[in-house]
Amino acid sequence: MQIEYKKKAIRSYVIRGGRITDGQKKAFDQWWPHYGLSLHDGLLEPATQFPANQPLVVEIGFGMGDSLFAMAEGLNENFIGIEVHPPGVGRLINNAGKAGLKNLKVYMADALDVLEDCIPDNSLARLQLYFPDPWHKKKHNKRRIVQPEFVQLVRRKLKPGACLHIATDWENYADHIMEVLSLAEGMENKAGDYLFSDKPDYRPLTKFEKRGENLGHGVWDLIFTKTLS
Ligand SMILES: C[S@@+](CC[C@H](N)C(=O)[O-])C[C@H]1O[C@@H](n2cnc3c(N)ncnc32)[C@H](O)[C@@H]1O
Repeated sequence: MQIEYKKKAIRSYVIRGGRITDGQKKAFDQWWPHYGLSLHDGLLEPATQFPANQPLVVEIGFGMGDSLFAMAEGLNENFIGIEVHPPGVGRLINNAGKAGLKNLKVYMADALDVLEDCIPDNSLARLQLYFPDPWHKKKHNKRRIVQPEFVQLVRRKLKPGACLHIATDWENYADHIMEVLSLAEGMENKAGDYLFSDKPDYRPLTKFEKRGENLGHGVWDLIFTKTLS
């Protein structure tokens, strides 16, 4: 399987070398036909992808996928995960296949391209972005995925009243995200102006979050809804 992306000057990720295990390779052979979606297939018709008519949730950058798997297993929602790290994609579809999940699909592609080309406008109940790469060096800040244009792209994809949920363990990035979201047209902070949200029960601990906790990092959740008008 190839990682799918269109040419762009600045990317929010680097393709990591992480070795694909035999298990993950087998997972691709066996489960990609069930769970994989392609950027090149263009605009998605969610109703044809999922047997149950349930709220549609997109997660960008699910990493090794264990927290997305737990959510898909435990919630009555349809999930689309987007990730460029093949070992994580392999692990997630392997777990999903073994558990027989029918409410999960996966793109191994650049999330910005998938949002632009594949996700219908006004279709999402939630977009979740958990522990995005912080790009903490000043000269790399421009690679942060959360920028004003990104928020407006996400806003187009959300249904009115639906939410963008971001969590980070990097304080300076949390402040940057708060600033960008608070200034974004058509988005409203669920917690109140410039306030962070409590971690909602539906969000499991993620791998990066645990790693951050071990390093003594704090965690900041931001939940903004798309305004109705
Ligand atoms: C710091 S990791 C967090 C992983 C996971 N959410 C967690 O909390 O354990 C960020 C992930 O986002 C992915 N990523 C970054 N930019 C992306 C993009 N534009 N499209 C798809 N995945 C992206 C990276 O490959 C990486 O796995």
